[in-house]
Amino acid sequence: MFEKLFEAPGLAPHVEGLRAAPRKWLVTGAAGFIGSNLVEALLRLDQQVVGLDNFATGHQRNLDELLAAVGPERAARFHMITGDIRDSATCAAACDGVDVVLHQAALGSVPRSLADPLTSHDVNVTGFVRMLDAARQAGVGRFVYAASSSTYGDEPALPKREERIGNPLSPYAVTKLVNELYAAVYARSYGFKATGLRYFNVFGPRQDPHGAYAAVIPKWLDALITGKEVTINGDGETSRDFCFVMNAVQANLLAALAPDEAQGEVFNVAVGDRTSLNRLFQLLLDNLAASGAPVEAEPAYGEFRAGDVRHSEADIDKARRLLGYAPTHDIAAGLEAAMPWYLAHRARV
Ligand SMILES: NC(=O)c1ccc[n+]([C@@H]2O[C@H](COP(=O)([O-])OP(=O)(O)OC[C@H]3O[C@@H](n4cnc5c(N)ncnc54)[C@H](O)[C@@H]3O)[C@@H](O)[C@H]2O)c1
Repeated sequence: MFEKLFEAPGLAPHVEGLRAAPRKWLVTGAAGFIGSNLVEALLRLDQQVVGLDNFATGHQRNLDELLAAVGPERAARFHMITGDIRDSATCAAACDGVDVVLHQAALGSVPRSLADPLTSHDVNVTGFVRMLDAARQAGVGRFVYAASSSTYGDEPALPKREERIGNPLSPYAVTKLVNELYAAVYARSYGFKATGLRYFNVFGPRQDPHGAYAAVIPKWLDALITGKEVTINGDGETSRDFCFVMNAVQANLLAALAPDEAQGEVFNVAVGDRTSLNRLFQLLLDNLAASGAPVEAEPAYGEFRAGDVRHSEADIDKARRLLGYAPTHDIAAGLEAAMPWYLAHRARV
């Protein structure tokens, strides 16, 4: 998985240089799904890494797992801060001496934000500005943050291009749009450029399968493996551009390493392909069978979910052109790479 990442054409030329002259990176949301994969990639590149997380939705087991995977020598280059991005002093301490911030900490999930818009706002907007400001004041060289495909809202055109967005359909989508607005205004007002990565449905190892706000792939796999029914919201023809986490990691590293001209932009991060929920269900059954854990199941169909967009597919041309981004895994390759983790993880909980 990581070997393939480091061989990505845009990244491969940087690997040796990074190892020879390590930088200090801050990953917020380090105990979460994407954050923990970023930390692992950076430690595998011999970088010095600070993690910041309050464990709201992240887990110590994610950190334990990645530190064991990289081995003691590289693990010694990691320093974890348990704290909240809504606290300015914590943000300032975390940014001390840091070259690059990869800001992932946020409360994800559209339904969560509909159930509790105020907390999503506090973390995703106030927390974001506090991190952005702390990084600016600390003189951080690069700030890359997790934006979201939810920013496209009700814009119907496919594939989604960065410059054409619609009206947000959920409080979560508003928070992520506001991040982009703040990033743009910090660039204009202070010359501090932050680069936004609009992730499209990321999946892979360490994505939490549990809880009311779990994402579709880990939730369905968990249900299939444990013999529970899978419910598809709507008719199953809703589609998404499912993006394996190694592609998201690649985009973060490329954005951080990109020259000044490419900073301060917003990029789609996906594969540039879409898969319906019905097709996804079949792919999961096929992957379980290929992994020696066959399951016979038919999905149930429920109501469409509030705040969901019908179709999502990214145009990834901008990231290709300006960052040299080239996804290493399509949905099939990503599921195949992640399947051993899903099966092993399920056996442990
Ligand atoms: N997973 C996706 O498909 C997807 C899609 C679009 C955008 N994103 C964005 O990517 C980022 C990472 O998402 P993820 O899927 O890894 O989710 P995650 O929930 O696994 O990770 C988020 C991490 O942030 C931490 N966090 C939350 N509130 C915090 C706070 N106040 N202070 C410090 N830490 C806090 C959580 O404990 C968690 O470890 C988020 O910004 C999310 O909005 C994710």
